[in-house]
This record gives sequence, C-alpha cells and structure tokens, in this order.
Amino acid sequence: MTVHQILVAPDPVLRKTAVAVECVDDVVRTLMDDMLETMYDANGIGLAAPQIGIFKRAIVLDISREDEDPAPITMANPEILWASAETTTREEGCLSLPEHYADVTRPAVVKVRYLDRENEIRETDAEGLLAVCLQHEMDHLDGTLFVDRISALKRGIILRKLQKAKKTGKIDTHASAGHDSI
Ligand code: NI
Repeated sequence: MTVHQILVAPDPVLRKTAVAVECVDDVVRTLMDDMLETMYDANGIGLAAPQIGIFKRAIVLDISREDEDPAPITMANPEILWASAETTTREEGCLSLPEHYADVTRPAVVKVRYLDRENEIRETDAEGLLAVCLQHEMDHLDGTLFVDRISALKRGIILRKLQKAKKTGKIDTHASAGHDSI
C-alpha cells in the first residue's frame, strides 16, 4: 500500500468535481486501500480521493476511537438520499486544511446510498460523527471544503493563513492532537 501526499488548500485541484466510479474493481479497491493508509498515516478519520489528486467518487473513513479496533469504511459513489431537517453543529477539521478548525452546521441524520468493496449497492442511516464525516467527505467529491460552510470572513482568514504557510513551507498534514480531521 502507498501513502500519498495530501493536497493542501488553497489548491484549485481540490475544487474539481470527481467522476463516478464505474465499477468497484481491483483498481478501485487498491485506491481505497492507499487512501486508508494515507488517512491513518496522517491520523485522520476520513479522506476523499480528490485530496490525493484522484478525481474518482471514492471516500474512506474510520471513526473508531483509539482504544477500539480499527473499523475502516470504504464507499464509492456515495449519495445522500435523505437528510433530516434537524441540524447539528460540530467542530470540523480537514487534512487538506491542517491546523484549522471551525464549527460547521449540517443535517443531523442522513440516509446514504453507495457501492461497497464488492460493488454491491448499500444504504445506511448515519447520525452523530458518522453523519458529519460522510457529508464532509461527500463535499470533497464536489470540490467543496468545510470552510465553504462557514462565514466568508472566517474562510478568508483560514485560506490566507494556509497560503502564507505554504509559501514559507511550514505545512504538516498530520491531524493535530485533540481534533478530528476528516
Ligand atoms: Ni476533509
């Protein structure tokens, strides 16, 4: 398995829309395994293919706690079938926006349809952290970042700081302790 470099915002590549996976075959499974390896290496709990510069609708996540066994989840072509009117607000971080965190409000419960590792269609209901992660990763597939869901003022501050950090070469895409990066 290969650990890939994670792209950091602002980067136009992170704004591209990913294309549907035609079939979850060995090529896609290898991609997902590499994404999991990359995510675990960075101490993240979620990663979308565009974050490593691959424009396929594939996401991986693992929201198990440190004292639990790993519980990797892989999805191709995830789509939201239903979202609750009830919303929830939670602090989000992202491996592509290292060291920056902000409260984001999203639907509290979602029903998601996707292709599993065997190319079978599955549906799942998600709430809590899982619902947040799924929505955050699905946003990546459409070129949307969590900062697009906060105020323009805060977004501008975060993106300018990242731009500056890139110029001075001080970027570490590993998640900070005590925060969830998805
Ligand atoms: Ni992210």
